[in-house]
This record gives sequence, C-alpha cells and structure tokens, in this order.
Amino acid sequence: MASQTSSAMPLLFLLLHMVVLRTVESKPTAETFRHLVGCRRGRIVEGVNEFKQFVKKLGYLSHRNGGGKHGEDNEFDEDLESAIRAYQANYQLNATGSLDAATLKQMTKPRCGIADVMVHGNKNSKSIYRFGTARYEFFLGNLKWPLSKTHLTYNFRSSVDVPLDEDIRSVCFRAFERWANVSRFTFEEVSEDYFADIEIGFHSGDHGDGNPFDGPQGTLAHASPPTGGKLHYDADENWSTDPGPDEIDLESVTVHEIGHLLGLQHSMAPDAVMYAYFDSGVTKRRLNRDDVHGIRALYGLL
Ligand SMILES: *[C@@H]1O[C@H](CO)[C@@H](O)[C@H](O)[C@H]1NC(C)=O
Ligand SMILES: *[C@@H]1O[C@H](CO)[C@@H](O)[C@H](O)[C@H]1NC(C)=O
Ligand SMILES: *[C@@H]1O[C@H](CO)[C@@H](O)[C@H](O)[C@H]1NC(C)=O
Ligand SMILES: [Zn+2]
Ligand SMILES: [Zn+2]
Repeated sequence: MASQTSSAMPLLFLLLHMVVLRTVESKPTAETFRHLVGCRRGRIVEGVNEFKQFVKKLGYLSHRNGGGKHGEDNEFDEDLESAIRAYQANYQLNATGSLDAATLKQMTKPRCGIADVMVHGNKNSKSIYRFGTARYEFFLGNLKWPLSKTHLTYNFRSSVDVPLDEDIRSVCFRAFERWANVSRFTFEEVSEDYFADIEIGFHSGDHGDGNPFDGPQGTLAHASPPTGGKLHYDADENWSTDPGPDEIDLESVTVHEIGHLLGLQHSMAPDAVMYAYFDSGVTKRRLNRDDVHGIRALYGLL
C-alpha cells in the first residue's frame, strides 16, 4: 500500500507540473478593447482597467501610476492619457492621448514580450552618444556585458517539444553570425551539459520566470538584458523558417532577441530589427543601420 502511494506521488507531481506549464495567460486582442475606441480622458467605462494593465505590460503607464490617485479602476485618467500619447509618439501615430482604431490596431499586433522604453519622458536613455537620426535605445542603466567578455557561449534547453527541431541550431547560428559580423562579439554553441552564457528554449504559458506566454499571436518571444542570458520562444506560435501568411519567421525574431541579450532595447525605426512588432508572413533578418549604430554606440566599433 505504502509503496503504491509513493510510486504514484512523482507521477502526480509531474501531472500537476504539466498542468501549470500549460496554463496560458488570457490575452487581450483588438476585439477585447474594440468598445473603447473613441474613449478619452474623463470617461469611466467597463474594461478600461483591463486596458490599463495591457498598456502597462507594453511598458507605458509604469512609473507615475504606483500609489497614484487612480490606478486600478475603470477611469480613463490623465496617466492613461499620457501613456497613450507616449505610445502614439513612439509609433508615429497621431499623439492625441485618446484611443483610436489605428492605435488599438498597432498595440495588439504580434510583438516581442519585452516592454518598450518610454522614449518620450525617459531622459536617462540618451546618456550615450547617439547618431543624428538614431531611434535605437538601451535598457535603463545602459546594461551591457563587461568589456572583457567578448566570447559568449549558448546552448538549448526547452520545457516543451521544440517546433522546427531540425532547424533551430542553424537558424540561431546565422542569427548570431549577423551580430558577430558587426560587433566585437563571437558566439559558440556548447552542449546542454555545460554552463552557457546564453540559454535558448521553447516554452508555453507560465514557464517559471514571471513572464507567462499567451498562446498564439500577442507575445512571440522574450529575452533578458545583459547579463541574464535567457532567450525564450513562445512554443504556441506558428513558427516557420519560410513563413506563409499565418506564420512567424523564427530567424527574424531570433535576430531581434539576440539584440536584447546584447543590451539593445526596442528601436522606434520600423525597418530596424529591434522594432518591437513582427507581422505574420514577413521576414526581417538583416540588421538595419539603426541596429548596427545601436550596438556600436553601446560597445564601441569592432
Ligand atoms: C491624424 O489626425 C488627422 C486630423 O485629425 C487625420 O486627418 C489623420 O487621418 C490622422 N492620421 C492618422 C494616421 O490617424
Ligand atoms: C557574415 O560575414 C561574412 C564575411 O563577410 C559573410 O560571408 C556572411 O554571409 C555574413 N553572415 C551573415 C549571416 O550575414
Ligand atoms: C497557424 O497556421 C495555420 C495554417 O497555416 C492557420 O490556419 C492558423 O490560423 C495559424 N494560426 C495563427 C495564430 O496564425
Ligand atoms: Zn524585443
Ligand atoms: Zn520566459
């Protein structure tokens, strides 16, 4: 009897663990917030609170809101207005501070899960020399690898089956090579048995780092700033190495996430690889001038 119980326990834990891993965060879509189009400061509408949480996740509405007057309620307050205005300015939309259809459409496109820097209102982010038309950004505090650390190792560890298992290594090899070609970094894959500076993996839903994935679309992937060294893909996307109209290009997103691993934040240049949004069916694998200027401004020339 006792031995039966003890042999059943690990299985039970395994099952519980799997259930937890498969829990997918409910993801707001454009439809979720459609009724808020036209909403502006002063209105109190059901769903505004959920929209505030969404805007907060995008990286806006973070600092002034803590312990503020309104916060967690359905009032379209001045903090939300200025958050929307900052978002609109970043993405070259009419900076009205009210929610229009174009802004909602942009906000709910598939994108990287790393929150944007609030460029308009974040005075710290300009502390390193920038080229004239530069739109690249760094993480707060200009996080970077130590200057002596130019050789970074990486390996693969996933908590779910890996889509494109036969392609992931060559895709990552090419993506790393693009950054190696324009910076002082070199990269090397090591076996999963060794420690690596960078760990790459596919995960689904809540995967234990406080940033649960959300199923198809929405958040595609995320990566940590230096020297965290984690690159996670949302396993529930339609990943592809040759994307059709409903598929996401694995290599494009990989090049983007490596930019985060090295210290670049989102660029507001739509052609930059470090732009936060990736449309289905589109490939954007080559580093843009803005990406190259960004990595060189952070670490110096080759
Ligand atoms: C911006 O606002 C102007 C005037 O209200 C309008 O004509 C134009 O279509 C808007 N542009 C976008 C991209 O929404
Ligand atoms: C990196 O540079 C080398 C040498 O110029 C080139 O052959 C290679 O195609 C480049 N790699 C990528 C992925 O662009
Ligand atoms: C995934 O791809 C399939 C077939 O290509 C398509 O029917 C489906 O809508 C796609 N899913 C998403 C979320 O794009
Ligand atoms: Zn990103
Ligand atoms: Zn993660």
